[in-house]
Amino acid sequence: MQEKVDVILKEVEEAKANTQEELEQFRLKFISKKSVVGDLFAELKNVPNDQKKAFGMKVNEVKQAAQAKFKALIDNLETSIQGGASDHEDLTLPSAGHTLGSMHPLNYIRSQIIEIFERIGFNVADGPEIEDDFHNFTALNFPENHPAREMQDTFFIEKNPDILLRTHTSNVQVRLMQKQKPPIRSIMPGRVYRNEAISARAHCVFHQVEGLYIDKNVSFVDLKQTLYHFAKEMFGKDTKVRFRPSYFPFTEPSAEIDISCQICKGDGCQLCKYTGWVEIAGSGMVDPNVLANCGIDNEEYTGFAFGMGIERISQLKFRVNDLRLYTENDVRFLKQFSTLH
Ligand code: PHE
Repeated sequence: MQEKVDVILKEVEEAKANTQEELEQFRLKFISKKSVVGDLFAELKNVPNDQKKAFGMKVNEVKQAAQAKFKALIDNLETSIQGGASDHEDLTLPSAGHTLGSMHPLNYIRSQIIEIFERIGFNVADGPEIEDDFHNFTALNFPENHPAREMQDTFFIEKNPDILLRTHTSNVQVRLMQKQKPPIRSIMPGRVYRNEAISARAHCVFHQVEGLYIDKNVSFVDLKQTLYHFAKEMFGKDTKVRFRPSYFPFTEPSAEIDISCQICKGDGCQLCKYTGWVEIAGSGMVDPNVLANCGIDNEEYTGFAFGMGIERISQLKFRVNDLRLYTENDVRFLKQFSTLH
C-alpha cells in the first residue's frame, strides 16, 4: 500500500503539461473526485486501525503535492502561451526582428507639395474641418441655389444646414483673409468631405491643398508661373502644362490646369482618355466680391488661388488606379512605399 502511494507521488512530481489537454489529463488523474488520489482516500477504511494515521498523513501529502503541481503546471503553460520560453524553444536563435512602418504615400506627397511651395515663399495655414455655410460657401460667392450646396454633395451636421463638413479647403482662404492683412502667401493642406459613393474614382473623404496669394499687382502671370514651377518640380522638367478656361464661383477668370500625361508622355493612353493631358488643379484670380466679403480692399489688392487633390497628384506620381487603396491600409499596398521618407 505504501509503495502504491510512493509511485503516485513520483508520478505527480514528474508530470509535465505542454498543452491544455495534458493539463486536463493531469487534473482528471490526480485532482478530480475520481482521481487516483481520491481512490487512496477510499482505501483508508480498509487499512488496519494502527496504520490509519500514518497512511492518512501520507495520502494528504500526495493530495497537497498534486494540487501544488497542478498550479505550477497552469502557470508554466500560461507563460509559454504568452511567448515565454518552453522546453521546445531555442533561446539561441536570433530574434524575428521588427517590421518598420513607412510613410503613407499621401503624407509623402503632402510634404513634397509643402516643400515646393515653401521654397518660393508660401507658408502653411490651417482651418477647421467642421465649418459654417458662410466660410464654405457664402463668402466664396456661391449663389443661393448652387448645386454644390445640395444634400448630395455636402455633409451637414445634425440636420442644421448652417454647419457642415467642409467640401473644400477654400474655407481657410476666407478665414485667412478675414484675419490677416495682405500680403498673404499661404498654402492650406487638409481633409475635405463630399457625400459621394465610394468607388475607384471617388471617395467621401479626401485631401486638398489650396493656395492663396494676395498682394498689390498680383496678376494671372504670377498664377501661371507659380503653377508651372510647381508642375515641373513635382513631375519633372519635361512636364508640359496647360491652362484651360473654367468656372468657379470664387475666381474670375478661372482655369483648370492640366499636365502632360505621365504614363504615355502625351501620346494618348487609358489614364488620359487618349487626350495626352490630365487635370491636376483648379485655379483663378480671386473674385473681387470674395475679397470684399472677407474685408479686403479690392481696389488696392488682387490675388490668385488654386486648389488640387493630394490623392490625384499621388495617383499620377505612383500610378495608383484605385482611390480606395489609400484608406484601406492593406500592407501589400503600403509596403510598396517603404523607401519613401
Ligand atoms: N475649391 C475648388 C474645388 O474644391 C478648387 C479651387 C480652389 C479652384 C481655388 C480655384 C481656386 O474644386
